[in-house]
Amino acid sequence: MRYDVGIFYVSSGGRTRRVAEQINSEFARFIKVRLFNINECHTNDLKRADLLILGSPTYGIGSLHPKWARWRQLLETSCTDFNNQEIAVFVLGDLRHHPKTFGGAIWHFESMLTSLGAQTIGHSTIPGNKAIPAPGLVLDASSGQRLLQDSVANWLAQLWTESTFLSSWSALAHNKDFCAPMCRILDRQSKSLEQGK
Ligand SMILES: Cc1cc2nc3c(=O)[nH]c(=O)nc-3n(C[C@H](O)[C@H](O)[C@H](O)COP(=O)(O)O)c2cc1C
Repeated sequence: MRYDVGIFYVSSGGRTRRVAEQINSEFARFIKVRLFNINECHTNDLKRADLLILGSPTYGIGSLHPKWARWRQLLETSCTDFNNQEIAVFVLGDLRHHPKTFGGAIWHFESMLTSLGAQTIGHSTIPGNKAIPAPGLVLDASSGQRLLQDSVANWLAQLWTESTFLSSWSALAHNKDFCAPMCRILDRQSKSLEQGK
């Protein structure tokens, strides 16, 4: 069975799972989406979606979760390619307790996908003083739930405009509700501008 969006994540403490669930419920209102815990599915399941969203916490010393490291080996040895699929990645880290290796999993996702010939959308900057450009979304788990949810919602609005698949789907949709993620962001931005006056 095919899906519009496949979200593939792994999580040991539950934070990455909660972010994946938020993404799932935002998309589920508009399109066919499926959430996969990579401990409970097969690498072949990656083939079944037009847009893939991959999520991992940062573990070890700035590394991907070991399960993703294992999948990387499997994907590379089976020469998997992502032709005609769009990919976006998000990672969690902890800036307060791991400032030197904060969100390091993002660079491992980047090298994994580059070695598989895939390109990513949804690039952003790493939270913190230097705002370094990153090939995906890097979330600071120590920043509080509200900030985390807002960062995810902003990123989804970005994906909605960047993704060729989502944009073409939006253009075809007759239901104006599909604009909701975008509208929410614009609404939030105008409210914070008003508060700043
Ligand atoms: C053993 C261990 C190592 C970690 N190493 C890093 C790290 O190198 N860089 C980082 O930014 N966060 C690191 N973290 C923080 C986790 O990425 C963060 O707590 C994340 O939210 C965990 O996600 P989960 O709840 O989905 O498992 C580490 C956490 C643990 C427990």
